[in-house]
Amino acid sequence: MPIDIELNKIYNEDCRSTMSKLPFNSIDLTITSPPYDDLRTYNNHIKTGSSEFNGYSFPFEDIAQELFRITKQGGTLVWVVGDSTISGNETGNSFRQALFFKEIGFNLFDTMIYSKPPRGACGNNSTYWQTFEYMFILSKGKPKTLNLIKDRENKESRAGDKGTKRLRSGELLQVKRGGYGKFGRRTNIWEYRIGKGHSSNDQIAHEHPAIFPEDLAFDHIKSWSNPGDIVYDPMMGSGTVAKMCILENRNFIGSEINPEYCRIANQRITKYLPSDDSKEYGRAAV
Ligand SMILES: C[S@@+](CC[C@H](N)C(=O)[O-])C[C@H]1O[C@@H](n2cnc3c(N)ncnc32)[C@H](O)[C@@H]1O
Repeated sequence: MPIDIELNKIYNEDCRSTMSKLPFNSIDLTITSPPYDDLRTYNNHIKTGSSEFNGYSFPFEDIAQELFRITKQGGTLVWVVGDSTISGNETGNSFRQALFFKEIGFNLFDTMIYSKPPRGACGNNSTYWQTFEYMFILSKGKPKTLNLIKDRENKESRAGDKGTKRLRSGELLQVKRGGYGKFGRRTNIWEYRIGKGHSSNDQIAHEHPAIFPEDLAFDHIKSWSNPGDIVYDPMMGSGTVAKMCILENRNFIGSEINPEYCRIANQRITKYLPSDDSKEYGRAAV
C-alpha cells in the first residue's frame, strides 16, 4: 500500500495520529524506546511559545495494535525497554508488553539485551548493579530481512584441522574439521557506552533526558532493513533513529509528542540531510 504522508519527516503529534494516516502493511521496520514506568516526566507540562504542551499519553495496548497493523508482512519491530523497581519489586512491564505483542500476532523473534557498562554513582545499593535493558525483536511472520552482523572474532581454529579419532573398535579414523571465517555472528547481548561523547557527538541530542546510542540504532537498522526501506520511530525523542536512517539511506517517519523534543530532533538532523544538488550521503558523511 503506498504511503501518502510525507516521508523523512518528524511529526509533532501523538504517534496514534501519525499511525492513523499510515496504511495497513506499510512499514518495514520500527525501532523505538517508549517512556517506561514513568521513570521520566519528559517535560510533561511546558510552555512553548504561544502553545502549551499538556503532557504525553501512553496507551500501550492501542499503540501496540496500531504498530501491528502498519508493519509489513515480514517487517520487524525493535522495542527497547526496561523496568523500574518500586520498593524492591520490579514492575515487570517489559515482559507484559512483550507478551501482549505476541497475543496480538507478533512473533517474538529474539529477546536481546542492551548492556551498558556501569558508570557514575547510581543504582540501588541493595541489588546487583542494573546495567541492561531488553531489546525485544518482534516480527510480523518470519522476518523478511536478516542481515546478521558478523563482527565477533572467532578464536577457534580458523583454517580447519586434521586429526584422528579412535573408534570403539580400536581402529583410528582420519577426521577433518572444517574451518571458521575470521568473524562470526555476534551474540544477542549488545554493549554500548552511554553518555556524552558515546551515545552521540551531537551536543543538542543530550538536551533530551533519555536517548539511546546512535550505534544501537545503526546496528538494528543494518540488521533488519535494507537501503530504501521505510523505518518508523513512534517516539522519536532527540531524533536518533532519523539521523541514522539518513546516514544509512533508509527513509524514516517519526512521531514525537513533545514540541520541544521535536524541535531538538529537527535541529539535530538538519546538517545530515543531503543537499538538493547531492543525493550522495552515507555513513562516511559523519
Ligand atoms: C525514551 S524517549 C525516546 C528517546 C529516543 N530513542 C532518542 O534516542 O532520543 C521516549 C519519547 O517518547 C515521547 N512520547 C511519549 N508518548 C508519546 C506518544 N504518545 N506519541 C509520540 N511520542 C511520545 C516522549 O516525549 C519521549 O521523548
